[in-house]
Amino acid sequence: MENSSRPHRYLIPFDTSDVPHIFTDVLVIGSGVAGLRAAIEAAEYGEVLVLSKDTVREGSTGHAQGGVAVAMNGAQSVQSHIDDTLDVGCGLCDESVVRTIISEGPERVQELIRWGATFDSEDGELLFAREGGHTHRRIVHARGDATGAEIEATLVAEAQVHRNIHILEHSCVIDLISEDGVCHGAVFQHSTKGMMMAWSRQTILASGGTGRIFRETTNPPVVTGDGIAMAFRAGAKLMDLEFVQFHPTTLYIAGASRALISEAVRGEGGALVNKNGERFMTKYHPDAELAPRDIVSRNILQEMKRTADTNVYLDLTHIGRETLAKRFPMIMGLCAEFDIDIAQDLIPVRPSAHYTVGGIATDLHGQTNIEGLYACGEVACTGFHGANRLGSNSLLEGLVMGMRAGEAAGNFLHRLSKSFGPRHIKYPAERGHQSDIDISDVEISLRSLMWRNVGIERHKDTLDAAAERLEFWQTYVMERTFDNPAGWQLQNMLTLARAIVRLAQARSETRGCHYRSDYPDRDDTHWQKHSFIDRNTQEMTGV
Ligand code: FAD
Ligand code: SIN
Repeated sequence: MENSSRPHRYLIPFDTSDVPHIFTDVLVIGSGVAGLRAAIEAAEYGEVLVLSKDTVREGSTGHAQGGVAVAMNGAQSVQSHIDDTLDVGCGLCDESVVRTIISEGPERVQELIRWGATFDSEDGELLFAREGGHTHRRIVHARGDATGAEIEATLVAEAQVHRNIHILEHSCVIDLISEDGVCHGAVFQHSTKGMMMAWSRQTILASGGTGRIFRETTNPPVVTGDGIAMAFRAGAKLMDLEFVQFHPTTLYIAGASRALISEAVRGEGGALVNKNGERFMTKYHPDAELAPRDIVSRNILQEMKRTADTNVYLDLTHIGRETLAKRFPMIMGLCAEFDIDIAQDLIPVRPSAHYTVGGIATDLHGQTNIEGLYACGEVACTGFHGANRLGSNSLLEGLVMGMRAGEAAGNFLHRLSKSFGPRHIKYPAERGHQSDIDISDVEISLRSLMWRNVGIERHKDTLDAAAERLEFWQTYVMERTFDNPAGWQLQNMLTLARAIVRLAQARSETRGCHYRSDYPDRDDTHWQKHSFIDRNTQEMTGV
């Protein structure tokens, strides 16, 4: 991908003999649904170290609202869940992956319940909600709209039961250590202990997506794509990165974070109206507000342009205060902070970047093309989501693939020699000049550029302009050596922005959440295939 010069293999210069070492059988990077589920499984086989950039609970998982889509609601439920996932994936899902993940979902959710998770139920029966693209109610939820927090708390508690799982918070992983195509662990910075090496027999990346590279996003600050970028530097194949999902409804109030207003709200009858109070989705799609996310997001944008407004509105006023308070207590509380009573006021909303559909290419065991390196959750791309993600299928994938990656990594341990020690690796410090740059200024500019030029609507001209600007930033940002997470995050964001733009330029069609206004139609003849990119190549391969 790099035209000018070959990118540095590592973000920082280091000599392994100068830093303290930690040893573990399985290293897990990230403590969301995928990382913790992987850690719990791997703990059946050996010692596990979990590194987490912030506190253990910080990440997308804890913020998830709608719930987990799971085939537990009736006899036909597995096949109809598969059909809905394939439909929304627009011809790019890997059907065997879809069948496996959906078939194993019920077991993973039952297991969470055994570990103490409480999902909403009535008379002892689970309650199921509906979201866009789902033909049936199949989404389990907890405390109304606090599903992610319930799952995260359950997994943290279960991990703590295992004495061989060690969780190190405030540990920012900078790079994976690899030699000759084999991963041996990672170099990381602990907030007080400084730089360290974590040597591992097997490594599982579960560091989440890249949402923060867009100005408008539902994703929390830790979601800067570090894992995908570090895997790319280590030689991993990245897949389908041009597919970025934009959630139709995030709260749009100047000064407020772009908090999600769950799609489940529309599943309960919430209507989208413009500033004139007109319901508009009915004229764009037969499923109206419950059409797939890409369609709702694009039509919101269209309606904003048509009415010259910065947002549209969600109308929940007909649902009733009691139902709203029971189903969506978190959203109700959040809106109340801005003086919006959702039982009687309209909620200003607009789309924002929500989910990284692509990621590190893996098989159904989370195995990447690098020996000893697995990936699971949003950091990975299994082909489950295809060109778009069905709502609430992500927590499901994290649970199933976390378990599978943990099991695969654990199983592999017995094939490796019992003793292993630190390798001596010295990475030279030859870098460009080191004068200061304003990291946050570049970051803000990068996020704005990605939102404007590589957002919901893309066009050759906007993509080319973005590529040119990113190339310019690259020349002075990537050459520098930073000594703090903000700098490394910026370098990771820049790396991924370039990869996303490159693949979005190449895919000259519209499919799923990749919309090209200059190629508005789906083109199965040329583009029914995945995109891959690695450090040396960019290739498009047929499905
Ligand atoms: P995350 O939960 O994001 O965890 C990533 C972890 O990696 C964190 O612990 C982070 O600190 C750590 N990390 C990152 N970089 C580093 C680094 N350099 N070094 C060390 N650690 C690092 N999906 C659904 O299915 N249902 C929903 O209802 C739903 N609602 C959502 C609501 C919101 C607001 C958001 C943002 C997402 C929602 N999603 C939902 C998507 C879903 O929550 C995520 O895709 C999923 O939780 C990702 O899990 P994960 O374990 O892969 O990553
Ligand atoms: C939501 O609650 O709308 C988010 C669900 C998801 O991202 O899957």
